[in-house]
Amino acid sequence: HLLGGFATLSLLFLLTLRLSGKAAALANLPARLRSLAALGLLLVIGQIALGGWVSSNYAAVACVDLPTCHGEWWPAMDFANGFHLTQHIGPNYLGGQLDSDARTAIHMTHRIGALLVTLVLLLLAWQLKRHGLGRLAGLLVLALAVQISLGISNVVFHLPLQVAVAHNLGGAALLMTLVLINYWGRSSVRLASPAAEAQAGLAMLPSK
Ligand code: HEM
Repeated sequence: HLLGGFATLSLLFLLTLRLSGKAAALANLPARLRSLAALGLLLVIGQIALGGWVSSNYAAVACVDLPTCHGEWWPAMDFANGFHLTQHIGPNYLGGQLDSDARTAIHMTHRIGALLVTLVLLLLAWQLKRHGLGRLAGLLVLALAVQISLGISNVVFHLPLQVAVAHNLGGAALLMTLVLINYWGRSSVRLASPAAEAQAGLAMLPSK
């Protein structure tokens, strides 16, 4: 449900971008930078899926300390049951049915995923800045910082509803930022109409 909603949002955002005619201005980004942007997008999608797995398995409070979990850097974890995708749900899943080690495995994987996402997105932001796209890089770092802070607040404040909802929203904002970067970086992007194509140009280039 989460992935379906975010996919719909991404498609609507892409449609808006295409119809706006603001495209292709960055089409000359080097292939390596475009690959890095694609990797960042894939990792964020994976991290969002992991977040959905955390909340749907009630694993949000499986670790209440941070950065350690149960006072350890590598606590006891049961990955086989935590990621048993065809698990039998049973008559009532309210509260979840996984044991503590399985939930810890899910929670810790989401934390490790966040570290990986952070590394790759910071590298991407640095590369964008080097190519004169400082504002786009700033937007990316801001969206990432807000999302990481909200994730940490989820743990530190024991999952207040407002923070959990804001973390969901932050995931969407980060995803839209990655969609934007990938859209602008694609040379194959076609503008909505010849008129829009004529309008677009270097003037559309985001300022440095
Ligand atoms: C780029 C980094 C991150 C992204 C994109 C991300 C994304 C998400 C998403 C989409 C959800 C699902 C929300 C829902 O189903 O309502 C989620 C849940 C969660 N995330 Fe993250 N997250 C990130 C980083 C973190 C970090 C660093 C932490 C904590 C150290 C964290 C802790 C949590 C927790 C505890 C939940 C469960 C919330 C609940 O049960 O409602 N996240 N995350």
